[in-house]
Amino acid sequence: MNRRKFLQSGTSAVIGALAASRLAFGADAEIVLSPSQPGELISPHIYGHFIEHLGGVIYDGVWVGPDSRIPNVNGIRKQFVDDMKRIGAPNLRWPGGCFADGYHWRDGIGKSSSRPRTYNFWQRRMPAGTDSTETNQFGIHEFIQLCRLIGAEPYVAANVGSSTPSEFHDWVSYCNAPAGTLSLADERAANGDPQPFNIQYWGVGNESWGCGGMMRPEEYATKYRQFVTQFPNYKEPFLVATGPRGHSADGDIGWTTGFFEGMRGFELPNGFSIHFYTDLRQTPLKAADFNQPEWYEVMLRGVRIDKVIESHWQEMGKVDTKRRTKLIVDEWGVWYKPGEELAPNYILSQPITLRDAVHTGLTFDIFNRHADKIAMANVAQTINCIHSLFLAHGPQFVRTPLYYVFEMYRSHMEARQVPVANPVAELNVPVLAGEGRLPGLSASASIRDRKLAVTFTNPSTQSPLKVRLRLAGGARATGARGTVLANEEMRATNTFADPETVALAPLAVKASGDAMELTLPKQAVALVQCDLS
Ligand code: AHR
Repeated sequence: MNRRKFLQSGTSAVIGALAASRLAFGADAEIVLSPSQPGELISPHIYGHFIEHLGGVIYDGVWVGPDSRIPNVNGIRKQFVDDMKRIGAPNLRWPGGCFADGYHWRDGIGKSSSRPRTYNFWQRRMPAGTDSTETNQFGIHEFIQLCRLIGAEPYVAANVGSSTPSEFHDWVSYCNAPAGTLSLADERAANGDPQPFNIQYWGVGNESWGCGGMMRPEEYATKYRQFVTQFPNYKEPFLVATGPRGHSADGDIGWTTGFFEGMRGFELPNGFSIHFYTDLRQTPLKAADFNQPEWYEVMLRGVRIDKVIESHWQEMGKVDTKRRTKLIVDEWGVWYKPGEELAPNYILSQPITLRDAVHTGLTFDIFNRHADKIAMANVAQTINCIHSLFLAHGPQFVRTPLYYVFEMYRSHMEARQVPVANPVAELNVPVLAGEGRLPGLSASASIRDRKLAVTFTNPSTQSPLKVRLRLAGGARATGARGTVLANEEMRATNTFADPETVALAPLAVKASGDAMELTLPKQAVALVQCDLS
């Protein structure tokens, strides 16, 4: 059914003002782009990653061990490295998550056979009879090797909840001091890495309101200052303070108020973390099998992040009047209730469908539009956990549908925002509690070296959208090409047996002068690229 027929059927959608005007090629909407008025630089780190010692993430997902028959680079799963390189993964957050505030970095260095077996925070979530003893085979050296193989910046979350400032500072010195200076640096060299790791991004704890120490925001502000005041400054750091649980009913705005008030008069952090899960754990929704209202429920809860970002940013500005501190959305994704794990001990893993990919497109467009506020974001988590790009189990490995959204959106990395006038009106959609309103079309655009990238997400499960793109300011498009991720079946997924059901396909784009025309399928994410003359 095309969108006009869908409208006539009266089931839900409304196209805005432009539906009435007669557009060339019978377009439902004309989107106007203004590449001659570029805006903020979109940080490449918005397309970042996160891996934690949890379930099947590190052990099996990332680390298979050097003696494994699974192809690996010194123990690191080769396919994971290759695919992360392919999407230009800009950073990697590690070792947690909740695991970080129980982690002691010395357990993960030295000869692998001598490393201790230690307690892992996630043990208490493991099914009865299973074990998640931390073997410490993957420590800071292995993590840095992984980052170097991928070409990703390391982002290390330090233990604040069960550690001390001096343990933190020793770790920083171990990582960043030049060999031949401190004993800690010589120890690193003796452990195989003479070159400093030059880690810039340090998270000062994780979820300090919860698993990271159950603190009040003003208590955490004090801790934060203690942990950073004597920071060994070998590499100019980018320090990230623990922020709110953004998906709480009230967005947890009180955490932001309390932390920033507690920091009044002191140097503010470079980054302030915010976690935002599209959290469906308390709902009946399943990851793999769902109906239309359940599709829209995910979209509706997901786009809430837009207002949550805005409200915390406003709150931060009451103290941070010079805007030193940027937002770091270092955990985000759709999180379903347990019951569909890849394997019982791969806790927090879940199937990923086209629905999650479309949610990802909506989220990335929101991040792009907030490029002035967001310095980094990290999907939770990259492999075998929650909103994953990959699922792996022994020799089996698959790219989930949302991997392809990362592949398309990498075009925006380090490009400048291009203003988009998008007149498509909201959709009224069926959701769990009756009706909700969603963007009828989500779009964001950017430009780098006269190359324009426009991404679109059509969240409708019923209606394709004919779009005419018009370039304002005299620009003309050459060499336009389109790519799309779509499927007739909204529950479409990729499995080990059938890994390419949802994959990228070419999308026809007709370019002429200052205009481009395309038809966006229903339930789809698309990319249009062209050169500007
Ligand atoms: O990503 C899984 C967990 O979710 C992380 O460990 C924690 O930070 C968050 O609550």
